[in-house]
Amino acid sequence: MLGGMMDDLEKILRNQEDILAMQYLAPLCGEYLPWSGYAMRPSGLVQVLNEIVINQRSKIVECGAGVSTFYIARLLRQKGGHLYTIEHNLDWMNWVQGELERESLSHLVTLVYAPLQPTDLSLQNTPWYDTEILRATLGSLQGIDLLLVDGPPAYEESIQYSRYPALPYFLPQFAPDVTVVIDDANREGEREIIKRWEGLLNVGFEQKDGYIAIARFQHSGNSDE
Ligand SMILES: C[S@@+](CC[C@H](N)C(=O)[O-])C[C@H]1O[C@@H](n2cnc3c(N)ncnc32)[C@H](O)[C@@H]1O
Repeated sequence: MLGGMMDDLEKILRNQEDILAMQYLAPLCGEYLPWSGYAMRPSGLVQVLNEIVINQRSKIVECGAGVSTFYIARLLRQKGGHLYTIEHNLDWMNWVQGELERESLSHLVTLVYAPLQPTDLSLQNTPWYDTEILRATLGSLQGIDLLLVDGPPAYEESIQYSRYPALPYFLPQFAPDVTVVIDDANREGEREIIKRWEGLLNVGFEQKDGYIAIARFQHSGNSDE
């Protein structure tokens, strides 16, 4: 019973954080967007936008298009920079592309359509974005200073590790000072992914707002910039 009450209190607290976050996001409001269970929570989005502003992130890769794509693009319109968003669902990507054009944001976002395919980087053989397509489209992109991982979908046990490959895949393309954010860090699958990424990088992720986890670190890989 006490556990149930704590869960309810936690939910109320999170909802209040989101209400406040929507006010913080007000200066970046544009056309109406279909907020749904797919979208990042407003409080998580605020953390990502803060990271872009405070630590001057300008070469951003996002896995999973949606509401976050628009808010990041609207911020980059003010601050400069470019967003590379990878999406596996062509219909959804086309919708996002159309809306970006309507808001005159499409020059700030490169949308990459990459269907899900098996890859050696996966845990438990869960498919990830087609790495041949990623190599052809984003292979020459060096100096990524923010990686936001909110796709592919991972809401069922059979696909709970689907987001794991993002970090090992993009690691060689990171800037010397880089931030990695993963959404849905409250779920079991993402918690296991974070544990493995922490082992891979030897850095700790900080859980923020109950949903996202973030790590900012120096990287001495083979980035050019
Ligand atoms: C967790 S969502 C990504 C959400 C996105 N980062 C955002 O903040 O809105 C993962 C995938 O769900 C799908 N998706 C996102 N929003 C959707 C919507 N409103 N309707 C249908 N599919 C959606 C897309 O294929 C996306 O890559």
